[in-house]
Amino acid sequence: MSHFHAVNRIHFTEKCSNGASVVSDTTSAVSITDLRKSFGSLEVLKGISLGAREGDVISILGASGSGKSTMLRCINMLEVPDSGEVRIGGELIGLKKTRHGMEPADRGQVDRIRSRVAMVFQSFNLWSHMTILENVIEAPVHVQKRPKAECIAEAEALLARVGIADKRNAYPSHLSGGQQQRAAIARALAMHPKVMLFDEPTSALDPELVGEVLRVMRSLAEEGRTMLVVTHEMGFARDVSNRVVFLHKGVVEEDGAPQEVFGAPKSERFKQFISNHR
Ligand SMILES: Nc1ncnc2c1ncn2[C@@H]1O[C@H](COP(=O)(O)OP(=O)(O)O)[C@@H](O)[C@H]1O
Ligand SMILES: [Mg+2]
Repeated sequence: MSHFHAVNRIHFTEKCSNGASVVSDTTSAVSITDLRKSFGSLEVLKGISLGAREGDVISILGASGSGKSTMLRCINMLEVPDSGEVRIGGELIGLKKTRHGMEPADRGQVDRIRSRVAMVFQSFNLWSHMTILENVIEAPVHVQKRPKAECIAEAEALLARVGIADKRNAYPSHLSGGQQQRAAIARALAMHPKVMLFDEPTSALDPELVGEVLRVMRSLAEEGRTMLVVTHEMGFARDVSNRVVFLHKGVVEEDGAPQEVFGAPKSERFKQFISNHR
């Protein structure tokens, strides 16, 4: 276990250019410890530990069925782990044992955490009966209870940022896949999330539309957002993320900086995976 997995909060002092010292801290954004999850007799996560600090962009790689989505879904309790810990910004998500298995101990806590952890799905999951603008303002207005006018102004800015300002009054079905995914990213950003989870955000797109979504994701990474990205885009993993994690059959097989893991992979399975994804 490397140092930042074990330590939740690291304080350090920096010298500013004017010579004054400021104390800043690097906070754990997400930390999962010994996560286990089975579906019936199928053990999907076999003790996964992973820590993301604020500003980390972690690419999660692995073959289909290796447990990537399940791991991501456990972070915001779309799936409830059988055992292990999930912490968001240092806050432990409480779980309790019931007759039906594990459940969150406090629904209010889960709601709170979900509004800090935004998820972007492979299949966009936009509400088809709402316009793009309505999709973006839905949670800020109805979940976060923020003033509607403020949410609309912000949504317009977000849609402009992802390059679809002109689609604000269109319905999702009238947009291309790339535009829908960019709308879904704008919707996620409208929550002011501390962490963004992406589950194969470009896998459902025609190849010519992948680039426009990756460009938006790269710009989010460059502004220092904390992102956990399940992807098969090796270019993104190499060039944009600062860390790559390779899952194989529910365990972390490889974990390190992109230069390390691509330059000198330790795991034979990861070597194979890389050569299959060139
Ligand atoms: N809700 C579920 N019920 C039963 N089996 C599931 C469920 N979700 C995932 N699985 C199974 O768990 C395994 C891992 O799935 P998943 O986490 O989606 O893998 P990946 O995202 O890496 O492709 C697969 O065998 C999948 O069929
Ligand atoms: Mg998946």
